Amino acid sequence: MDISRLVPLFTREAIAARVAEMGAQIARDFHGEPLVAVCVLRGAFMFYADLVRAISKDDLYVDFLRVSSYGAATESSGQVKLHLDLSCDIEGKNVLIVEDVVDSGRSLRFLLDLLGARKPKRLACAVLVDKRARRKVEVEPDYVGFAMDDGFIVGYGLDYAGKMRNLPEIRVPEQELR
Ligand code: PRP
Repeated sequence: MDISRLVPLFTREAIAARVAEMGAQIARDFHGEPLVAVCVLRGAFMFYADLVRAISKDDLYVDFLRVSSYGAATESSGQVKLHLDLSCDIEGKNVLIVEDVVDSGRSLRFLLDLLGARKPKRLACAVLVDKRARRKVEVEPDYVGFAMDDGFIVGYGLDYAGKMRNLPEIRVPEQELR
């Protein structure tokens, strides 16, 4: 794969517009209920920062965890590891898992099982990009920014061998758009 020529797939403007809609929907759905928004490091950091600012609530709490399944590879190893756990107790609380991408679904399944066992009041998931065609395990995110079948994407938190997470939009190799 030639990633030397990358072109925007989801622009900053398209992402901002979609994130604003998602934030408004989440604020409506959790109206009057405290919400713990969980950032799944590392990939979700940029989406998370934008999404929580789009959720107009004065009873939103932030927390962070880190899982990884890919290592330095571009294909999932199938093994999900927890590297950093939450700081807060989520029992009886509304919890929103915030992910950048759902691909095989293994990471989200792992997180739903892990956090679900802690008896939250409600457990939901917001994902920016849902790659449905690549599912290996069944999971259905509650809030989806963009759906796509397949394809390599990078930027806005998503990496290529650890690089390019700082791109402000999501890009694809030029040949994938042809
Ligand atoms: C990426 C991404 C999701 C997961 C999705 O994380 O951020 O957490 O893979 O893939 P899956 O649906 O096949 O599990 P990664 O393990 O690469 O770690 P990172 O967030 O640090 O990049």
